[in-house]
Amino acid sequence: MATLGVGVAGVGEMGRRHVENLRRSVPNARLVAVADVNSAHAARVAGELGIEHSFAGLEAMTERSDVDAVVIATPDKLHAEGIRIAAAAGKDIFCEKPLATNLEDAHAALAAVQRAGVRLQIGFMRRYDPAYLAAKKQIEDGDVGEPVLIKSIGRDKDPPPMAFYEAGLNGMLFYNNTIHDFDLVRWLLRDEVVEVHAYTTVAIHPRIAHYGDVVAALVNLKFARGAIGNIESYIQATYGYDVRTEIVGSRGSIFVGSLQQRPVTLFDARGSLRPVADQFLTRFADAYLAEMQDFVETMLGDRPPQVTAEDGLRALEIAVAAEESHRSSKPCAVEAGARPEAIGTGPAHLR
Ligand SMILES: NC(=O)c1ccc[n+]([C@@H]2O[C@H](COP(=O)([O-])OP(=O)(O)OC[C@H]3O[C@@H](n4cnc5c(N)ncnc54)[C@H](O)[C@@H]3O)[C@@H](O)[C@H]2O)c1
Repeated sequence: MATLGVGVAGVGEMGRRHVENLRRSVPNARLVAVADVNSAHAARVAGELGIEHSFAGLEAMTERSDVDAVVIATPDKLHAEGIRIAAAAGKDIFCEKPLATNLEDAHAALAAVQRAGVRLQIGFMRRYDPAYLAAKKQIEDGDVGEPVLIKSIGRDKDPPPMAFYEAGLNGMLFYNNTIHDFDLVRWLLRDEVVEVHAYTTVAIHPRIAHYGDVVAALVNLKFARGAIGNIESYIQATYGYDVRTEIVGSRGSIFVGSLQQRPVTLFDARGSLRPVADQFLTRFADAYLAEMQDFVETMLGDRPPQVTAEDGLRALEIAVAAEESHRSSKPCAVEAGARPEAIGTGPAHLR
């Protein structure tokens, strides 16, 4: 059985999970190397998990001929550059969301992918979550009829530390967090967002306004086929990591997620205790593993990825429009490229 030689760039919280999954639970992956700008950390992770090579950067790692594919889990603003480096070295790529934090970088990265003839999968792991997959199937089977409304909530338990903002390496809330929902609503409804209207606040943490970020956002959406939607993102729910979606159609409604993330309730002197997932690595553990298994099998099988470069770009276009709406306090059209009629006639690297 052929195996895929993989290198992981960026072994922080997310990258380390991909490393663990590749090392322990994806039998057809050969985890050859890790790279991190913090080379001591890369060496430590390599040592802990029995990985032969570690590097201080992606470029050096891609020089290895036994690295067939690269996983990019560096901070948001470094994704586009990472994709260009990996593509130039002829490696297939899995890149964490977002594809980039602006459209210029995104198009440059996708052009590099096209030039090199490599494949790119984007880390929208909710598409691999069993609950979201079940909902998707029910929508496709017509169980809710024609979708009319979609509501999605993404609340983190605790805000990132101030160092996250100070480092300036990640996109603001729309790119770092809401991007999951921007992808999810397109995927679930099989439709494109054509207009957004964003409301935002820096209440409780006004300091983060200095970094161009927000604490919470509500984004209203209009879809090409007539449905409407609303997405809420919030960084400090305190009670848990709360991700929920509802799709309402002409014949019914589907809920995904609940405050009780696991079907266990403890009763004691305090009453009932329902454990709520505390963060993304818990809630989406199955999805992170499934997406990595799919990435490896896709690359070995010479198939096109299921979560494509185009998906990365479409979600980014919605995030860019949401940021514009947040700045102008007005509804904002999503760039014409996102319209369904434009798909297939857009830039060559998307065809
Ligand atoms: N799909 C998801 O659900 C999900 C969840 C969390 C994070 N993410 C994404 O994963 C990425 C990483 O997030 P994180 O939470 O692991 O951040 P993190 O800060 O914990 O880790 C980032 C790592 O990248 C390293 N790094 C920085 N610059 C580098 C460079 N030039 N080359 C190599 N390594 C470099 C850092 O030293 C650090 O170890 C972000 O883009 C984030 O949006 C996705």
